[in-house]
Amino acid sequence: MIPCQRALFDIPADVAYFNCAYMSPLMRPALAAGEAGLRAKAQPWTIPTTAFFEDSERARALFARLVGADAEGVALVPAASYGVATAARNLAVRAGQRIVTLADQFPSHVYSWREAAKAAGAEVVAVALPEGCDATPPVLAAIDDACAVAALPHVLWTTGAKLDLVAIGARCREVGAALALDLTQSAGALPIDFAAVRPDFAVAAAYKWLLGPYATGFLYVAPRWRDGAPLEETWIGRAGSEDFARLVDYRDAYQPGARRFDMGERANFALLPAAIAALEQLLAWTPDAIARTLAAKTAAIAARARALGLSAMPEDLRGPHYLSLALPEGAPEGLPARLAAERVHVSQRGRSLRVTPHLYNDDADADRLIDALARLL
Ligand SMILES: Cc1ncc(COP(=O)(O)O)c(C=O)c1O
Repeated sequence: MIPCQRALFDIPADVAYFNCAYMSPLMRPALAAGEAGLRAKAQPWTIPTTAFFEDSERARALFARLVGADAEGVALVPAASYGVATAARNLAVRAGQRIVTLADQFPSHVYSWREAAKAAGAEVVAVALPEGCDATPPVLAAIDDACAVAALPHVLWTTGAKLDLVAIGARCREVGAALALDLTQSAGALPIDFAAVRPDFAVAAAYKWLLGPYATGFLYVAPRWRDGAPLEETWIGRAGSEDFARLVDYRDAYQPGARRFDMGERANFALLPAAIAALEQLLAWTPDAIARTLAAKTAAIAARARALGLSAMPEDLRGPHYLSLALPEGAPEGLPARLAAERVHVSQRGRSLRVTPHLYNDDADADRLIDALARLL
C-alpha cells in the first residue's frame, strides 16, 4: 500500500477530488518541470538543438517501461484521437468485415473506426455489456472470423467495467483480427503487460491516470506496423534530422522504430518535462502498488455507499481505480453540482456517480463524500 501522497499535489484540505477519470491534478514536481520548460522559451539560446531529441527519447522510454513495451515502439501524440486515427490509417478493413467496439465507448475511439468502416463498406459493432456481468465473454464472442479490428479500452470510461486483454489479444490472433487499444482510462493505474496482450496499436492520453499535462499522450505501435504511414510528415521524423544544417537534404528514410508516428512539434519544451516528471513518479510507485492502493480506497467507499443505497459493480469486474455508483430511485437531479458546492468533486455518467480517486485522497476526503451523499440523497 502506498501512503497518502497529498503533499505532492496542490489540493486544499477542504477539497475532496474524486475525479481523476475526468482530469488528474498535476503534481508539484511536474508543474515545476513544466514551468521551467516554458520559461526556457523566453531565453531560446538556452535550448540546444539536442533538446529536440533528449526529452522525447526519455518520455518514450519511461512510458514503455510502464506498460512492458519496447521504447522503439512508442510515438508521442497529442491526444487519444490522434493515435486512433493513426491505427485506423494503417489497419486494413475489407468490405463486409466488422470492427468490434464496446457500447458507450469514448468517442475518440469510435469516429475514426466509423470513417474506416464507411470507406471500406465494413461495419462497426458495439458490444452491449449486461449490467453486473463480466465484460470479457460478450467481447470474446463478438471477435470472430469477420472481425478486422477489435477497438477496445481496458476499462470502460463510464462504468469502469474491465476487460481481460490477455484473453482478448489471444482471441484476436486466433481469428486474424488486429487489436487497437485506448488505455486512457487505465494506463498508469491498472497494470498491463504489452508482452502478454500484444496489441497492434495502443494509445493513452496522459492527462488522466498518467498524471501528465493536457495535450500529451503515447501511442504504441507493434513491430509489424512500424513501417506504416504516419498522419503527418514531420521533418524530425526523417533520418538524419539531428543535423540541423542539412535538413534540406530531403530524405526518404524515416527515423527508426515508431518515431515516424510522432506528432509535429513533439519536442514540447513545456509539456514534455512535466509528462516525464509524472512518469518517473508513477514508475517509482509502480502501477501494481497504485492499483492495490486505489482498490482499497474504492472498496472502502463502495461499502459505505452501499449503506446509503448506492450499488457498485463487484470488485473483480471493474478497474481497481474506478467506482461507478448506481443512484437509488428518487436521487436528486444535478448531484455532481450539489456535491461540488460542498467541494466534493465527482462525475455523473447516466444514472451513476463516477468516483475515481488517486493517491492524493485521504480518509477525510472519503468522509466528506459519504457525509455529503447522506445529506443530499
Ligand atoms: C477512454 C477515453 N479515451 C480518450 C479520452 C480523451 O480523448 P482525446 O485525447 O482524444 O481528447 C477520454 C476522455 O475522457 C477517455 O475517457
